[in-house]
Amino acid sequence: MRLQLCTLLVGLGVPALSRSLSSFENKCQSLAEKIELDYTFNVNIAEYVAPNTTIDLAAEGLNATCAESGANATASIAVGMCRLNLRVATSKKSEVYMEVWLPENWEGRTLMTGNGGLAGCIQYSELTYGASYGFASFGTNNGHNGTSGGAFFHQPDVYEDYAWRSVYTGAVVGKSITEQFYGDSCGKSYYIGCSTGGRQGWKAVQKNPELFDGVIVGAPVIDLWGHVGFFGYVRQTLGFNTSEITLAQWAVVQNEVLNQCDGLDGAHDGILEDPTACQFDWTPLLCSSPSNNTCLTPTQVEATTKLFNPITYNETFIYPGQNHGFEPSVISLLYSPLVLDWLPEIFRYLVYQDLSWDPTTFTLQDILYAQNNDPQNLNTFDGDISAFHRRGGKIIHWHGSADPLIGRRTSDLYYDKVRSTLNASVAELDEFYRYFPTSGVGHCRDGPGAWFMGQLGGTTAADTPDDSMLKRIVLWVEQGAAPKFVRGTKFINDTVALGVEFTRKHCKYPEVNRYTGTEEGLNEDGWACVEP
Ligand SMILES: *[C@@H]1O[C@H](CO)[C@@H](O)[C@H](O)[C@H]1NC(C)=O
Ligand SMILES: *[C@@H]1O[C@H](CO)[C@@H](O)[C@H](O)[C@H]1NC(C)=O
Ligand SMILES: *[C@@H]1O[C@H](CO)[C@@H](O)[C@H](O)[C@H]1NC(C)=O
Ligand SMILES: *[C@@H]1O[C@H](CO)[C@@H](O)[C@H](O)[C@H]1NC(C)=O
Ligand SMILES: *[C@@H]1O[C@H](CO)[C@@H](O)[C@H](O)[C@H]1NC(C)=O
Ligand SMILES: *[C@@H]1O[C@H](CO)[C@@H](O)[C@H](O)[C@H]1NC(C)=O
Ligand SMILES: *[C@@H]1O[C@H](CO)[C@@H](O)[C@H](O)[C@H]1NC(C)=O
Ligand SMILES: *[C@@H]1O[C@H](CO)[C@@H](O)[C@H](O)[C@H]1NC(C)=O
Ligand SMILES: *[C@@H]1O[C@H](CO)[C@@H](O)[C@H](O)[C@H]1NC(C)=O
Repeated sequence: MRLQLCTLLVGLGVPALSRSLSSFENKCQSLAEKIELDYTFNVNIAEYVAPNTTIDLAAEGLNATCAESGANATASIAVGMCRLNLRVATSKKSEVYMEVWLPENWEGRTLMTGNGGLAGCIQYSELTYGASYGFASFGTNNGHNGTSGGAFFHQPDVYEDYAWRSVYTGAVVGKSITEQFYGDSCGKSYYIGCSTGGRQGWKAVQKNPELFDGVIVGAPVIDLWGHVGFFGYVRQTLGFNTSEITLAQWAVVQNEVLNQCDGLDGAHDGILEDPTACQFDWTPLLCSSPSNNTCLTPTQVEATTKLFNPITYNETFIYPGQNHGFEPSVISLLYSPLVLDWLPEIFRYLVYQDLSWDPTTFTLQDILYAQNNDPQNLNTFDGDISAFHRRGGKIIHWHGSADPLIGRRTSDLYYDKVRSTLNASVAELDEFYRYFPTSGVGHCRDGPGAWFMGQLGGTTAADTPDDSMLKRIVLWVEQGAAPKFVRGTKFINDTVALGVEFTRKHCKYPEVNRYTGTEEGLNEDGWACVEP
């Protein structure tokens, strides 16, 4: 397919700025008739959007399940842009519905965005983020609409879009339209995504290494069957619809974890810098009967312990276990309605293609089956990323150490796997692949830690490369300035207007953060990255 690589760039940054508004508008209105693609497509919207216009996505038919799962129902950017919405066939039986946002202040780069969960939801917040910073920005619906995986049922082409092809097609089409619109090379190509979006980014690195020059991959659902195994295993162990161990008990567990392990990093701040260092002793929590919520019976301790240790089945490794320090979040999220639905959806629509599959029958045997019958390699755990290295690509991989949904330890394992597959030292991987575990950060955002890192839309604390992953990846790709750390900012009550509570430099794996300062851990200069 042509234009996976952008043609050689000339005159970066100049052309868009020198055009008058009306010529930009006119060019936008006539874009729909002029586009040529190597795909069957049709344009739904091609219109100039003035600065600060609020786009009413709900009125345009944004799938209600997307809004329910937390997506904004409106979008607004402070710059003018040409907005294109189109459908592109990915096979005879599948298509993506996608957006291409072409900003007036184009700086000669493109940004492809990923998705989340099983979702067919365009990530408008990342489109906004990219376009605001002068990227021609694209995103697709992942080949289907809404948060359900029902569209995969007996539709291998839709499944293939989900596994890898929606990102591939979206990026190829987006780059081509960018060149056609600005009449110039599309420049360096970037990717940003978290969760499923993190998996999609890794998939592109592994399978289509020519597609992007720089990728930001957060909390990736790589080793996907391991994570699904954990979702099922938790329910098998603690109860199918509700946890037999109450949230109040989990809060007691968390308190005891912090009591035992919070100080290991030198600061009692409610955040475990290196949760893997916590050798938790459950005995202080034991009681003979669960007469109140302040203790656990031996049977309960036996059950809960399983979730924090490696999980194997028939001598096959399944999952490395969750981290300690945020136990109530793990349970409330895994037992939330959306996540409860994933187990039946994944097995009914993807794995067995059988609507009668009964999720209460789940065992880890089902995961072995899924691992061995994975037509599109949804697992996305290949360690050989040498082709991406050879083409000069750069990867910022990050994962919240307090991620209650997609446990961080899988990312540690993946980094180690790439190292052993490529027989590379940390210094050699540093040339193109750097991994940052981010303490106290939840799933993609939130958490008690310093989580504003410019990793997604709506997470910008400052525009400096140390504070913004988007700025950093550009600087690394285009000027060789690699990240030594990632600075996160914690705002008071997570509200920017209330001001900064603290900042922290998150270390590059395998280093860990140690505090030697004197201000209860809130001074970022009191921390240092050290060998574990
Ligand atoms: C868009 O909104 C921002 C923030 O409110 C403002 O600073 C800017 O002047 C606005 N731009 C235009 C063109 O109105
Ligand atoms: C997805 O939603 C869009 C917008 O409503 C619609 O045009 C498109 O046909 C839908 N695609 C599928 C596969 O349902
Ligand atoms: C909206 O999403 C739901 C859940 O994924 C899906 O069943 C439905 O078909 C979608 N609606 C449209 C109009 O695409
Ligand atoms: C779980 O909850 C669902 C929905 O409320 C219900 O239909 C199902 O019977 C429950 N299953 C079990 C094992 O309790
Ligand atoms: C709860 O049970 C523990 C152990 O049996 C006991 O020490 C504690 O006093 C009880 N707490 C309350 C509030 O009853
Ligand atoms: C367990 O593994 C052995 C050896 O690989 C295999 O022969 C056997 O069928 C497996 N059992 C189950 C229940 O998967
Ligand atoms: C791995 O790299 C080391 C150091 O460069 C080298 O000595 C060793 O032979 C390599 N091993 C393999 C299996 O290539
Ligand atoms: C949703 O919109 C609000 C207001 O524009 C913005 O502050 C917030 O960051 C957006 N959320 C996401 C997830 O983009
Ligand atoms: C932060 O949130 C807490 C709990 O909602 C509230 O009690 C407190 O007043 C808030 N602090 C500020 C500075 O708004």
